[in-house]
Order: sequence, then structure tokens, then C-alpha cells
Amino acid sequence: MARIIGGVGTTHVPSIGKAIAEKKYNDPYWRPFFSGFDAVHTWLAREKPDAIVVFSNDHGLNFFLDKLPTFAVGAANEYRNEDEGWGIPVSHAARGDAAFSWHIINGLVADSFDITMCQEMLVDHAVTIPLQLMWPDGNWPLIVPVSINTVQHPLPSMARCLELGRSVGRAITSYPQDLRVMILGTGGLSHQLDGERAGFINKDFDTLCMDQLATDPEALTRYTIPQLVELAGAQGVEFLNWMAMRGALTGTVAELHRNYHIPISNTAAATVLYENRPRLLRRAA
Ligand SMILES: [Fe+2]
Repeated sequence: MARIIGGVGTTHVPSIGKAIAEKKYNDPYWRPFFSGFDAVHTWLAREKPDAIVVFSNDHGLNFFLDKLPTFAVGAANEYRNEDEGWGIPVSHAARGDAAFSWHIINGLVADSFDITMCQEMLVDHAVTIPLQLMWPDGNWPLIVPVSINTVQHPLPSMARCLELGRSVGRAITSYPQDLRVMILGTGGLSHQLDGERAGFINKDFDTLCMDQLATDPEALTRYTIPQLVELAGAQGVEFLNWMAMRGALTGTVAELHRNYHIPISNTAAATVLYENRPRLLRRAA
């Protein structure tokens, strides 16, 4: 059976792609961010995931404001990388596994999630930059991309994204193939790219989100989307992807590592690593 081994939440700022291409790992501006992946690399080398379910948001590549699904799941054997004009390097395609994707899609629909099924899907920096940060050699595990609308209001709620993740987690653990699966949630943390509050960052709220995401994600569902915009910024709502990631961790979760650095391109850059340990079954009395 497939097993969920852990999860990572990380920022996906486009300029990271350029810094990777220019190998600025030890540049004073970038070092505090890139060094946050040392612990992740050690964990990945030990745990060796076969597959990754990636929760992220599309930035106008597959979907635009005229047609924007709340949730969309890729069901292809390959996902080409394109981007939408950020000038960052285009990477090689990510491998997929259509059969695994369809298993997750079936689970989601059985759980009453009315998703969009994508037998063709492109991936942008929200997928490729975190993959390249975690596997700098470019040898990425296969992926199942799940796109969450964090762009066009009304957005799905924090609670709905947590439940989406839980449904994906249940589907993964019922997949008969022996896959070691990790979950990835990308985007955030607090940032706002335009308007009167351009450059807005809220360290206190980001810290609270990371604290509660690890120990009590349910508590975060008290925030409405307008409150999330107010507290995290208009683009900080990408935290919804982290909520789904956390929801998919169905076992006992231990936070192994956290890095938080301000700013990367006017964004609070954060990385968390969770291990997902199987719950111990209670013996019947
Ligand atoms: Fe983004």
C-alpha cells in the first residue's frame, strides 16, 4: 500500500528560479533562504519518496480569470513546464502517473469534491521551483499536481482546503501500490504584490500559522478568507495550499524543521518539514 511519509510547505517566489539558475546559493541575500533546505535534503536522502502530491495555485497558465476551477487535479503522465512571463528559466517536464492521479480523483469525487480533471496540464514556477529546491540535480520524483484557486474570489475556505487535503490523504493510503508519497504545499507566506499595501508582511501571523499548522490545523479554520487577506496580504492567501498539504498528513505529525526569512522579493519566505508517522492502533479491550 502507498504510505504518506511527510510533507513540506515552501514559498514559490519566481525570483528563486533565477537565483537557482545563477547559482546564488551563497550570495548574502539568498543564503538565509537556501540554507533552509539543508535539513530537507538530509531528510529526502533518507526517506526517498517515489511520488509527490503538489498543492499549488496556477498563475494564469492553465486557467485564467474567465474560467478558473476551484480545485483541479492533473491526470497525465507528464507535465510540461511553462511560465507566464516572469523571465525565469523553463525546466524539464515533471513525470506523472495517470493511474495514481485517477485513484486520487476517484477518492475526491467520492468525498463530494467537484473537481476539474485535467488529462493535460502545464506546471509553472509554483511547482517547478520547490521541486528544484528540494532536488537540485533535477531528478524529481513523479508528481500529482493539485491546483487550488487562490486568485479569483470567491476562494475556497481554510476548512475546505484542509478537508481537500484529508480526502487526498485517504485516497493515497488506499492506493494498492507500494509508493512512498510526500505532500508539498507551495506559496506564501505573507505578501502583497500590489495596491496600497504592496510589500505588506506580517511575521506575527506567519509564525502563528506555522505553529498551529503543525499542532492544531483545525484552529486555523476560524479565519475567513477576508480575514486571511487582511492578515496575510492579497497573495498571502496561497497559505491555502499549505492547509491542504497539512490535511493530507493523515498520521501523527512531527515538525522536523522550520526556516523563516524576510524578505525574498517582498515576500516572507518560509519552509517547513513535517514527518508523518503512522498512528498506533489501540488494542481492543
Ligand atoms: Fe504565487
